[in-house]
Amino acid sequence: MPRLSDPLQVKGLRLRNRLVMAPMVTGFAEDHRASPRQAAWYADHARAGAGMIIVESCAIVPDALLLPRLLGIWEDAQIPGLARIADAIRAEGIPAILQIVHGGARSWREDLSLERVGPSPVPLMPGPAPRAMTEADIEAAIAAFARAARRAVEAGFDGVELHGAHYYLISEFLSPYTNRRTDCWGGDREGRSRMGREVVRAVRREVGAGFPLLCRMHAVEFVEGGMSSEDSVYFAGVLEKEGVDLIDASGIGTSSQGNWEGRTFLNTSSVLPKGDNAGAFAPFTGKIRNAVHVPVIAVGKMGKPGLAQDVLDQGQADLIALARQLIADPQAIRKILDGREEEIERCQECNLCFSSIRQGALRCGVNHSLEEESFETERSPR
Ligand SMILES: Cc1cc2nc3c(=O)[nH]c(=O)nc-3n(C[C@H](O)[C@H](O)[C@H](O)COP(=O)(O)O)c2cc1C
Repeated sequence: MPRLSDPLQVKGLRLRNRLVMAPMVTGFAEDHRASPRQAAWYADHARAGAGMIIVESCAIVPDALLLPRLLGIWEDAQIPGLARIADAIRAEGIPAILQIVHGGARSWREDLSLERVGPSPVPLMPGPAPRAMTEADIEAAIAAFARAARRAVEAGFDGVELHGAHYYLISEFLSPYTNRRTDCWGGDREGRSRMGREVVRAVRREVGAGFPLLCRMHAVEFVEGGMSSEDSVYFAGVLEKEGVDLIDASGIGTSSQGNWEGRTFLNTSSVLPKGDNAGAFAPFTGKIRNAVHVPVIAVGKMGKPGLAQDVLDQGQADLIALARQLIADPQAIRKILDGREEEIERCQECNLCFSSIRQGALRCGVNHSLEEESFETERSPR
């Protein structure tokens, strides 16, 4: 079984080791363009020696942002800022992947009464139920994914990751909870997979056969009525068949019913509940890995001492992604690779990171340097 420090070849990319920086919105973007602070953040992480960095979600159209200060990739003027992030990472010899997304029924709205779209009118946020997309809406979203991928190539990224997880648009089509359609975009597994399949095809046509293409998807949804583990294995097979080079397996860790003006909506989160749930997505990720021949990433509190290597040892994944632990300690990967795990500043799972990016820039209950930097940014003229 591979060690965390072993290299891996993914298409034309050579990853120096098995540790990946998971995509994480920083809220550092300014007017949906990458800021100097954002490039510096990724440069800092690249110096810690990850095998690969997946840069935070970038919205493919302006009305499908996930959060107020998200990066955008809907116009060419956004390319130079993104190129600075790609350059900062590649300067350290580390593959830079850009994640692209359509927020679907979970798109951010300052005015909650404004329309969102999704496969079916199933509410996932405070606000009215989303409008079911027409055939033309679906075709437009697929085309926007392809144009965004072309811009990622122009910005100099080494690969693109389609965000097919976390109940954003592609995953809303995949899940029977959110996709209640009876036309060819819904119904059985094949119908629910169609949107994802068409996005992969359109993106592949745009970026060419040799360009690394990743897809993030759910290994499991801990949601009543959600996508089953069999659905996930089926969809992973579809992705492989369509030429996706790497599967980034995430999941829905928790869900609850929210209430907006007397109407309920499903509230979901990509993180596992606080407590002893580290690695809970991994057995499901392992089922995907058994079914496909492309490499698979596992995520979910993988910073717990010893867990990342265990997941590799059990054959559940080829690569391990860390998220919140890298906010708490941007040098965590270096410390793991150097055998200095006991020096890691541990993430306390306070989830200040999540609440902070709903309003602005990333903050952390452990890494107070983020706070100092954000005060500086706020004070300095823009
Ligand atoms: C602040 C923050 C921002 C995130 N942004 C993204 C994102 O842009 N795209 C994505 O796929 N997942 C995003 N996630 C989810 C993480 O990539 C990861 O799947 C999740 O945090 C679980 O990993 P962990 O237990 O190591 O934190 C984000 C997580 C955090 C904490």
